[in-house]
Amino acid sequence: MKAAVVYSSKTGFTRKYAHWIAEDLSLEAYDLKYDLNEVKNLKEVLSGIDTLIFGGGLYAIGINGLKKVMDEDQVDGIPNVFVFCTGLSLRSEEVQREIFENNLKDVEKKNVKLYYYRGGFDFRKLSFIDRLLMRLMKLKIDMKKKKRPLTSDEKGMLAVFHRQVDFTDRELIRDLVQEVQSL
Ligand SMILES: Cc1cc2nc3c(=O)[nH]c(=O)nc-3n(C[C@H](O)[C@H](O)[C@H](O)COP(=O)(O)O)c2cc1C
Repeated sequence: MKAAVVYSSKTGFTRKYAHWIAEDLSLEAYDLKYDLNEVKNLKEVLSGIDTLIFGGGLYAIGINGLKKVMDEDQVDGIPNVFVFCTGLSLRSEEVQREIFENNLKDVEKKNVKLYYYRGGFDFRKLSFIDRLLMRLMKLKIDMKKKKRPLTSDEKGMLAVFHRQVDFTDRELIRDLVQEVQSL
């Protein structure tokens, strides 16, 4: 097996999981934003492998960086593709299904295994645009609060706003690691 971990992380939570996975599988972890422009080329990394593990943070249900990687021609020739993402939502079948439906094309759904892990939140590390988006999201939830009871995800979002939380848990990667090891 020749595998690589590629990830995209804005505030470090996906990076943490990517490095844990790479460590457990004795692989390299490439940061889509930095390493793959300077150290190695993305096409080069994808060309030589039969197993790709990609990870990205969730931003408005979309997996950051996934499209960029999946659009590379070389991905079609990789037989084993695993995708993990991190977010603030609680882990549930429903959340996992929603992420799957929103991020993978029909053809990819047949070949890609998706894993969802809880990441964290650090307002200070957000870009100007992401801070703005978070403020809008908070405003929307505040308005909903007046009309109906909030979901646990909405309550969770309000609770962490302007705070630092880290829900990362190394135990969660065990399934993915075992699956890759069994190939
Ligand atoms: C603008 C914005 C939108 C977000 N949207 C979602 C979301 O739709 N679902 C979710 O579970 N978490 C969401 N989050 C939380 C991030 O996914 C979470 O902080 C993640 O662990 C970040 O990973 P990263 O630091 O590796 O990019 C959002 C965060 C921001 C700032």
